[in-house]
Amino acid sequence: MDDTIELNPVEQKLVDDLLQELYRQRGLDYRNYSRTFLSRRISAFVKKQNFNSVEEMVERVMEHDEDLERFIGSLSLPTTRMFRDPQVFRYLRESIIPMLSRTHLTKVWSAGCSTGEETYSLAIILHEELPGRKILTFATDLNEKSLYKAKKGIYQVRRMRAYTLGYMASGGTRDFSNYYQADDENAIFNEDIKKNLVFAQHNLVTDSSFNEFDLILCRNVLIYFNRGLQERVVKLLSKSLRPGGVLILGDKESLRAMSSQNDFFELDRMLRVFRKRE
Ligand SMILES: C[S@@+](CC[C@H](N)C(=O)[O-])C[C@H]1O[C@@H](n2cnc3c(N)ncnc32)[C@H](O)[C@@H]1O
Repeated sequence: MDDTIELNPVEQKLVDDLLQELYRQRGLDYRNYSRTFLSRRISAFVKKQNFNSVEEMVERVMEHDEDLERFIGSLSLPTTRMFRDPQVFRYLRESIIPMLSRTHLTKVWSAGCSTGEETYSLAIILHEELPGRKILTFATDLNEKSLYKAKKGIYQVRRMRAYTLGYMASGGTRDFSNYYQADDENAIFNEDIKKNLVFAQHNLVTDSSFNEFDLILCRNVLIYFNRGLQERVVKLLSKSLRPGGVLILGDKESLRAMSSQNDFFELDRMLRVFRKRE
């Protein structure tokens, strides 16, 4: 169902003021997220919370902390799954990991990791392809609730069948069920997979770069930003990669016409894999 409504100029102004207030009060900067994304999320929020209008919603959110929290939650789109686009993980396994330096600690960043499914997929592949190597994987997101779930590494057991197929399509040949303990409802990933993962809150819009990484996955995050914000975030990602490091974006994202496009060359256009020039 498409729940998009075009915001009229008055509604747009109210929403802009609300986003400005959110930034002022909480430092959460949604001001340059794409208009389409914002109007879609706001329309869905108005409908779900049974507000009669955008005006009523803005008024309530400005005045009531619980509504504000709900509104913030509604702006986060945590949709994710393990081995999403398995051909990307296959490429990672077969072509990128063999390129990673064998001499230093390998540092990886899963930026916009949501509830962690991408990070655990990555951790499993690194565990299989680089046995015994020291690897540190940072996984960050803006959304605290998603990060809380990610840290736990607990997922519904009914999803494991699809994830096992994703694992196999990514070139995995082991028994996937050895990576987790399951009961009737949940599957919990093993300590062996979790031990090199560091989950932390990081806002790609307002926080700075915090390391020099060999590999960054930032998939399905840039699509929510407007052009100017995409530019800024790509600069941050470029700054956070060591020369020769690899960046992977989502399947609808690219570096085309970005000012930092020339920092990179394409390793695989279809899979959105880029390497930072040395
Ligand atoms: C659709 S999910 C993508 C999850 C995963 N990367 C994947 O491709 O399956 C987008 C994630 O981006 C996060 N996000 C949105 N704005 C962000 C920001 N400014 N800084 C960090 N994360 C952000 C959201 O909280 C959400 O978890």
